[in-house]
Amino acid sequence: MVQDGRVPAGDVSRRVGVEVIEARGVDSKLLVEKLIDAAGAEFTTYYYYTILRMYLAGHEDYKEICEDARLEDRAHFELITPRIYELGGSLPFDIRTFADRAGCPDAYLPNTNNGKLTIKPGEAVEVKPAQILEVLLEAERCAIRTWSEICDLTFGKDPRTYDLAARILNEEVEHEAWFIELLSKERDGVVRPSGHFRRGEPGEAPYSKNRGFYNP
Ligand SMILES: [Fe+2]
Ligand SMILES: [Fe+2]
Repeated sequence: MVQDGRVPAGDVSRRVGVEVIEARGVDSKLLVEKLIDAAGAEFTTYYYYTILRMYLAGHEDYKEICEDARLEDRAHFELITPRIYELGGSLPFDIRTFADRAGCPDAYLPNTNNGKLTIKPGEAVEVKPAQILEVLLEAERCAIRTWSEICDLTFGKDPRTYDLAARILNEEVEHEAWFIELLSKERDGVVRPSGHFRRGEPGEAPYSKNRGFYNP
């Protein structure tokens, strides 16, 4: 029972979990929209990273890092999606609607005419690893901006959304550092260490899956 008794006993049309954050100043409808946009970005990025990773062929080290970032984006989608429903929202029923409203640009494979290029089996796309690493880096930067905004909207008002967003943000900040390291060395020949330690397993997502950290 909520303290001021505004939600009558047994009323399932209202949510105390929403009303308490509204009372603290959160616009829950706006928050739901932003979470759907953010979830869309995670989901589409997971898709595009699948392609980008394929075209890092021959660079097993880059592929491994890309794989962690890819699988962790899927973890981010799955971490945040339940929160949309808890707040009374819903994912769009059409995946095209969902992809179109993603909060970050499409992470197209370079030299594919913004994804419009089609190739037949056996044909190749000419793309350099540095070009792919640049796309990966900018996708991570968009994710950092997105989750920082969610953190700002919820800090001190909606501890649950804040906690989820902060856990995702932890990993996005790591991802940016990883791709700065790889791009700097690959493109410019300059060493800029990221502080990267290997994940225990691919896409371990230590924060967003609440796994043990580096030294369990
Ligand atoms: Fe992500
Ligand atoms: Fe990421």
